[in-house]
Amino acid sequence: MKLAFIGIGKVGFALANNLEKKGHEITIAHNNPQSKSVVNALQKNPEFKVLPLQEAIDAADVIFLATPFRTNKEILMPLNFKGKTLIDCTNPVGPKISHGLESKISGAEQVQEWAKNALVVKSYSIYGFENLEDSSFSDYNVQPVMLVAGNDLESKEKVKLLNTDLGFDTLDVGNLSQSLHLEHMTLLWVKMVRANGHHPNFTWSYLER
Ligand SMILES: NC(=O)c1ccc[n+]([C@@H]2O[C@H](COP(=O)([O-])OP(=O)(O)OC[C@H]3O[C@@H](n4cnc5c(N)ncnc54)[C@H](OP(=O)(O)O)[C@@H]3O)[C@@H](O)[C@H]2O)c1
Repeated sequence: MKLAFIGIGKVGFALANNLEKKGHEITIAHNNPQSKSVVNALQKNPEFKVLPLQEAIDAADVIFLATPFRTNKEILMPLNFKGKTLIDCTNPVGPKISHGLESKISGAEQVQEWAKNALVVKSYSIYGFENLEDSSFSDYNVQPVMLVAGNDLESKEKVKLLNTDLGFDTLDVGNLSQSLHLEHMTLLWVKMVRANGHHPNFTWSYLER
């Protein structure tokens, strides 16, 4: 697929780099090709292209959003997503690892309000970037699971294909409003690892009988 990345820092680069190795075409969507993260990403993977935000979106099948949540409104409002899938990897995190929107609305629903004509899917948000860089758990005979929420089934199918390439099982947890619960799962993971010292190379798995 043709994939555009708004945000090519820890999360964006990990996903883009692994997906490029699986044959996807990666474009960094940034209005400043000299920005630190863009230069760094191009040094590490010269196969990436860079285009201004709207041009990158126009050329893409699927767009990833991997930016600090506080920047999202300003980035998204001027853009036209033309009915394309936008994967929201961002997390609104508030003081002391709390929900940044006080759990009144999920960040993903807020993103949908700012990116009006995008089909927003929440994914890649519940684990640290370490598990996006490397999702292999060779000692286990189950795969890590990636949870996906969104209102558009076709978009979720696209995310499922990308998940497979990244080595994740996909669990569709329902509509975009479920994102609030995913964002609380993020807070759990972040508190365990970043505050309480739990090892970062762990994920959840889905077992069904
Ligand atoms: N870190 C994790 O483990 C993790 C895991 C899951 C989800 N998340 C979430 O994913 C998001 C990204 O986290 P990260 O750790 O990858 O952040 P990061 O390393 O700081 O990268 C942020 C990226 O966003 C770009 N950006 C910032 N403002 C921009 C703008 N106005 N226009 C275009 N690009 C802009 C930055 O580019 P510049 O170089 O120009 O600043 C950079 O490429 C956050 O919402 C975070 O909560 C993080």
